[in-house]
Amino acid sequence: MLAAPINPSDINRIEGVYPVRPPMPAVGGYEGVGEVHAIGSAVKGLSAGDWVIPSPPSSGTWQTYVVKEQTVWHKIDKRTPMEYAATVTVNPLSALRMLEDFVALKSGDTIVQNGATSIVGQCVIQLARLHGIHSINIIRDRAGSDEAKANLQQLGADEVFTESQLEVKNVRGLLGNIPEPVLGFNCVGGNAASLILKFLKQGGTMVTYGGMSKKPITVSTSAFIFKELTLKGFWLQRWMSSDKAEECRSMIDYLLGLCRDGKLKYEFEVAPFDDFHTALEKAMGKKGRQPKQVLKF
Ligand SMILES: NC(=O)c1ccc[n+]([C@@H]2O[C@H](COP(=O)([O-])OP(=O)(O)OC[C@H]3O[C@@H](n4cnc5c(N)ncnc54)[C@H](OP(=O)(O)O)[C@@H]3O)[C@@H](O)[C@H]2O)c1
Repeated sequence: MLAAPINPSDINRIEGVYPVRPPMPAVGGYEGVGEVHAIGSAVKGLSAGDWVIPSPPSSGTWQTYVVKEQTVWHKIDKRTPMEYAATVTVNPLSALRMLEDFVALKSGDTIVQNGATSIVGQCVIQLARLHGIHSINIIRDRAGSDEAKANLQQLGADEVFTESQLEVKNVRGLLGNIPEPVLGFNCVGGNAASLILKFLKQGGTMVTYGGMSKKPITVSTSAFIFKELTLKGFWLQRWMSSDKAEECRSMIDYLLGLCRDGKLKYEFEVAPFDDFHTALEKAMGKKGRQPKQVLKF
């Protein structure tokens, strides 16, 4: 392996709180990029030196050498920056699927999301922008929130609010000319999810894909009866288990092309594998707010 990220779901798997677990004993890591070291005599289409990613992703990317069936590996363009190749599957692909699978969005529509500084959130902003879709973004109140706002605006965010800025009666009054959002993405839960429901247009849909605050979602009765909101969930692993392996690979090639062209970027920090303890502590939030940790082997 060349590089692999530490994602929240990797931590959840190790904690034993993720709904699926690899057979034990197991090595951590679910996505990443590797270089072919050696191939079996029957393998065609791959040679030593090629770059590959496990697609659909599979367990055990936090190690230097991995032996798996040829069908696991997807050969990618070696001109791709290594850190993007390592991280493209879980978060950028989730952003792409969520933008396409729930509401038929058209240019000029608006989406709203919390957890906008997450990798998924950063990808949602840029992929939406590519299709002329506005984004309203909610981030948590924390040190550095002004800088975070400026970074998201540079990626193409139309509006960025901290949760405390939205403690007003009429949040929709803050939107100016942007149309009310038809679709919302909830990464956080708790109050941040309630804010999405407040922004959504009549008949809108909120898709929950993460629970970073570990707080439940509270929905008012009127949100269902009078506003007719729909609440759904998204889980990439379920989507990929439904016969989507080939489709998944063409989407990954599309996303990696955007990364190579500089149209899709996100924040990460490369960490040497020798110091994985520090990277794990950072990924678990024990050292204050940190960018996505990408282990380099
Ligand atoms: N359902 C699926 O298929 C699927 C797929 C991909 C990802 N996910 C989930 O999506 C979420 C984001 O993943 P990621 O890898 O993109 O995240 P990430 O880049 O590691 O970023 C973490 C995000 O969570 C926020 N955050 C952290 N602790 C928080 C707290 N206590 N309260 C509120 N916000 C908090 C961070 O905000 P700050 O910037 O303020 O620190 C940041 O926006 C995770 O829950 C992950 O499991 C789900």
